Amino acid sequence: KQEEGLRPGRLADYIGQKDLKAVLEIAIEAAKGRGETMDHLLLYGPPGLGKTTMSLILATEMGSSCKITSAPALERPRDIVGILMSLKPGDIIFIDEIHRLSRMTEELLYPAMEDFRLDITIGKGQTAKTRSLPLPPFTLVGATTRVGSLSSPLRDRFGLIQRLRFYELDELILIVQRTAELLQAPVTPDGAEEIARRSRGTPRIANRLLKRVRDFAQVKKLGEITQPVAVEALEVFGVDPMGLDWADRLMLGVMIEQFNGGPVGLEAIAAATGEDSQTIEDVYEPYLLQIGYLHRTPRGRVATPNARKHLGYE
Ligand code: ADE
Repeated sequence: KQEEGLRPGRLADYIGQKDLKAVLEIAIEAAKGRGETMDHLLLYGPPGLGKTTMSLILATEMGSSCKITSAPALERPRDIVGILMSLKPGDIIFIDEIHRLSRMTEELLYPAMEDFRLDITIGKGQTAKTRSLPLPPFTLVGATTRVGSLSSPLRDRFGLIQRLRFYELDELILIVQRTAELLQAPVTPDGAEEIARRSRGTPRIANRLLKRVRDFAQVKKLGEITQPVAVEALEVFGVDPMGLDWADRLMLGVMIEQFNGGPVGLEAIAAATGEDSQTIEDVYEPYLLQIGYLHRTPRGRVATPNARKHLGYE
């Protein structure tokens, strides 16, 4: 995946998330000073904001390596046992979508996180024996879009719980310019700003849009990516001036036209748009809430007057 080469490798190259960086700088330096591993870290927030990247950076800064996995890949107890048994001292395990761990996997993690110990049962029924194996010290980095879905015993075992925020425009401009340089795609400052504005506060989207605009400029022989080039390309790709794509517009349009703007329940929106309700909640809603196009009320979701105006319903 080309994303790999674009990720910043060190904390100093990571743009944005100032609060998170300040907390981690101290945690890293303190752990290194004591010759220990860092406390387990839970990162939460919308997708695409840099949770995996931050975990890889932590490993580099600690001089260790990072094993990347996700809860759906840890379905059977033996999956997590295999990873824990192969750890070297100081390693980081990154578990994405950690709110989706199976119960047995989660229970194996409790003693592993707390005492660096693996408790396994050998055999079945009356003759079953339990064994407790020591593990090398490690740091678990968990990532989730829904911190509220974690069980409290699991959440309580993280010494650091940090939220990733949407990025500011100036931060996204720097990210677009940095990526453009790595891709050797010349972009003017206003071209970078146009892409950044339409990126929904999300570096992953900024980098994706930059690649699509680069393709467009190359095929149409338009030379460097200026603002008009970015506008024309992003119109072709269905990304509007607020960064909304057809899925966002479909969702808001359905709410306004079929449900009179709401309040309407999440499941009704999912049924009417053919989108999965969890995807709506984790992927589409956070940014629409952030820009004030959507409100959540006890009786359901409401499309705001700003959303109506943006979509031309006024
Ligand atoms: N690329 C993607 N996210 C980034 C970030 N936060 N800083 C620098 N480059 C990035």
